[in-house]
Amino acid sequence: MSVPSHDAPCAPFASLSFARIVTATVVFAALAGSFVTPAPALAKTPPPKAVLDASAVAVPDRYSADAAQQIFAAGGNAVDAAVAIAFTLAVTCPDAGNIGGGGFMTVFMDGKPYFLDYRERAPQQATRDMYLDDKGNLVPGMSLVGHRAVAVPGTVEGMWEAQQRFGKLKWKQVLAPAIRYATDGFKVEPWLQQRHDAAAKNFAGKTNFDAYFSNLKAGVMVRQPELAQTLSRIASDGGPEFYEGRTADLIAQQMYGHGLVTKQDLIQYKAVWRQPLAADWNGYKVVTAPPPSSGGIGLIQMLKMKADLKQAFDGLELNSAPYIHLIAQIEDRVFADRQQYIGDPDSYKVPVDKLTDDAYLAQRADEVKPDEVPGATPVKGGLGDALPEKAQTTHFSVVDKWGNAVSNTYTLNGSFGSGVVVDGGGFVLNDAMDDFVTKPSVASPSGATADDLNTVAPGRRPLSSMTPTILLKDNKVSLVIGTPGGSRILTSIFQVMTNLYDFNMSPTDALTAMRFHHQLLPPKTIYFEPYHPITGELADQLKAKGYTLEGQSFNGDVQMIRVEGATPEPSADPRGVGVGRVMP
Ligand code: DON
Repeated sequence: MSVPSHDAPCAPFASLSFARIVTATVVFAALAGSFVTPAPALAKTPPPKAVLDASAVAVPDRYSADAAQQIFAAGGNAVDAAVAIAFTLAVTCPDAGNIGGGGFMTVFMDGKPYFLDYRERAPQQATRDMYLDDKGNLVPGMSLVGHRAVAVPGTVEGMWEAQQRFGKLKWKQVLAPAIRYATDGFKVEPWLQQRHDAAAKNFAGKTNFDAYFSNLKAGVMVRQPELAQTLSRIASDGGPEFYEGRTADLIAQQMYGHGLVTKQDLIQYKAVWRQPLAADWNGYKVVTAPPPSSGGIGLIQMLKMKADLKQAFDGLELNSAPYIHLIAQIEDRVFADRQQYIGDPDSYKVPVDKLTDDAYLAQRADEVKPDEVPGATPVKGGLGDALPEKAQTTHFSVVDKWGNAVSNTYTLNGSFGSGVVVDGGGFVLNDAMDDFVTKPSVASPSGATADDLNTVAPGRRPLSSMTPTILLKDNKVSLVIGTPGGSRILTSIFQVMTNLYDFNMSPTDALTAMRFHHQLLPPKTIYFEPYHPITGELADQLKAKGYTLEGQSFNGDVQMIRVEGATPEPSADPRGVGVGRVMP
């Protein structure tokens, strides 16, 4: 950030990159030629009719809200706005917004749901034991900080795919706000300085983080000239520039001799359109993230098991000790299944249908008992022992006036990722490799538990908890929701959804209410947030039941939009500095 521009000599890569760009140009010219050939007159499709009286966003900062507003004013749709938001956050929220990470986008467009997986992938040279020393012990921090923590980034390819497929505006237009913030600067707020200071301690002496980001101080206008250049190249040459052009050369050069990501890994990276998960619940269709996220399966399991346990929940006060106890037992089962059956769907045939099957979930719900002593009965995956056949994150929600929606969660994994900045590129790279099981049977801090399904393998996508979700009612968007928070993502979304629909709370109350988290491991532990600690009588009651209470160091940051009438209602989590904005 405002550091002298580094000249990045990249001779070994330049000729390949040039060849790629030339090839692309030739293909483009051929295609362009076909556009000028007179074509038979086609019936003109009428422009889509607005079904809402405004568009809306719920985003983690005000700059990205402004970017979205410009895009809507220029006639863009929800995907255009989402892509502009994603690139803007890469500039203004560099702890989590990114071009050096990856994520998931759930889209509802012209009446149909889609899911785009642009999750990072392990580089080809990655091996199962790459984080272990000679004695088989985990090398502390190696999967979290520095070059070897970096997986092949997917964000730019994801944004390119989504915008090319569904966007209305020109690619350059949607990058313009981000380029402006990188060039002209943005004002750092105290929360960003705090996140910077915490991360800088971790990275000190280990990465080049401070050379770029030491000026993230509250009140300072920060310009990022190298990032501006990178974004401008991507704007001019398209998403492939990141994977094949000068930016790819800069990444490969940064990795060379230290990390495993090569230019070949970048060239091979592809985002994948997958079938979104869909389940009926409470009169809604829940459209959510399939594997390699565990979040969608877990969310559906929680919602359905809670509905199956209606009698047990009847009359229980929200977030009372007996309520938390029942939810914790549901969560034990969700996280047991997560550990045992969910991994990269390109490596394993994940039994998605079985895990979300009504009869299966009713049987699992039947195991939940109000008077069970926590941890008394060991909980395992519910489908038996058979292995499947081989075969600081941020979220934003967008709805446009045509009734389209985007729910997008993307991440660097940890705050500021690996702390490695691409010299000459001006952006941080992720530490998504830590979402793999770095040592079988050792739980990762962000994942829940550990299993062979999620060990490091070349090209594999690490298991994720990101759960960008859209609820439909009569095939119209009714709720767009998501949050950061690692394995707390699905349990947070579940709680806000049940607050809204089971307890009929207003969006503000649903977001403000206390949230807690429990997962199978560590056993008998209920986590609480800094925003709303569990203390006093409730704490005593939970302890008396046999639970240990533990504070988390961070809050979630749910961004959601409810659509019930003609005007969408966006709400940003009061835990963060997000903005809900309606744009008539
Ligand atoms: O993909 C995942 O589940 C994690 N990398 C997400 C990390 C995260 O949400 C951190 N944010 N607080």
